Amino acid sequence: MGSTIIGCGKCLPALEVENDELKALVDTNDEWISTRTGIKSRRVAVDETNSDLAEVAARQALGWIDGGHAERRLDPGEIDLVICATITPDVVSPSEAGLLRRRLGLSNAIAFDLNAACSGFVYGLAMAESMMAAAAPSVAGAAGRNPVRRALVVGAERLTRLTDWSDRNTCVLFGDGAGAAVLEWSDERPGILSSFIANEDDEANALTCAAAYEAPQPFDARGISLDAAAAGDPGLARIDEELAIGEAVADGKPRQVLRMNGPKVFKFASEAMTAAIRAALDRANLSLDDVACIVPHQANERIIKYAAKKLDCPLDLFQLSIAHTGNSSAASVPMALADAYESGRIQRGDKVVLVAFGGGFTSGAVVYEA
Ligand code: ACO
Repeated sequence: MGSTIIGCGKCLPALEVENDELKALVDTNDEWISTRTGIKSRRVAVDETNSDLAEVAARQALGWIDGGHAERRLDPGEIDLVICATITPDVVSPSEAGLLRRRLGLSNAIAFDLNAACSGFVYGLAMAESMMAAAAPSVAGAAGRNPVRRALVVGAERLTRLTDWSDRNTCVLFGDGAGAAVLEWSDERPGILSSFIANEDDEANALTCAAAYEAPQPFDARGISLDAAAAGDPGLARIDEELAIGEAVADGKPRQVLRMNGPKVFKFASEAMTAAIRAALDRANLSLDDVACIVPHQANERIIKYAAKKLDCPLDLFQLSIAHTGNSSAASVPMALADAYESGRIQRGDKVVLVAFGGGFTSGAVVYEA
């Protein structure tokens, strides 16, 4: 018994932007971007909101519309939990998951968002599986917990809203999209066999993004002060200093954008991805020879190639979807998973590894039997 993935789906925004088109914004070219990252184009959500993208991906995963992969059509009342992994929710409240619950009519579902950057979907699966397992009828104390027999886990992002379009080091990398999966607790199928999630401090501030808190606060340390609103936010100024965001702002850069030291993230990512795959396989008592497909976070094809080399396994074991999506953070693993199902490379009974790394730093992997 265990929680099995019984559906998945994805949604990309309509606008596709080719590498060479970015020449109008920054000093770059298709050759540099393709060879350094494997990216040829990315999708940019102009009209579509994060929840629009998430909704379509979820409808596919639930078997309500064509596309994606769904073992059967679920009724709205069957979903007990919605987790939406995102760093770009449309609004702070309701949560993205709350918006989805309302749009999809999932009236029995607990709904909340999760921020683990690009690893968010993998964290979300691990979290959903733990909640399902803890409430399984055979578990002591299960009656005291929310029963979760089916969960919808979504990764949805509009990273292009957090992109500094004048910074060639980052703007060529990111794209928008959403992916979703439905988990069902089954007494017959093993489903998720193991998970491994881990954090490491980003001491060098290699990957940061400031939030937007713009309502002026009419207080200073003594109480109400009508001058305070104009004076700015001393708390935010301190955190900006701690994360070196202030330096960039002082250089005239926008505050609320993704800032990245690519080579530092690359180094962390290459190590973390292989470590997570190994740890999750160990926990499942499996080796790479047992695995039919690895679905990795699509940040840079070179990171995936490095992992294949380090793990001494063929590159074609990995699902590669980056060419026409770019790095879509929490959406990247579920979208690549939907691609893997669509191309028929995951069959019932196959062992599959989902693996990701991201800002924070976060990393993790999940092993499941399809
Ligand atoms: N076009 C042309 N030249 C460029 C561009 C560009 N778009 N971007 C950088 N360059 C230049 C640099 O200025 C540098 O030039 P210089 O040598 O004259 O200074 C040169 O190319 C090499 O730059 P590097 O940064 O050393 O290039 P690198 O090979 O490391 O590739 C990259 C950069 C693609 C960003 C890589 O480091 C990477 O993929 N890092 C990991 C990113 C990642 O995985 N992020 C995931 C997390 S994102 C999230 O969580 C939301």
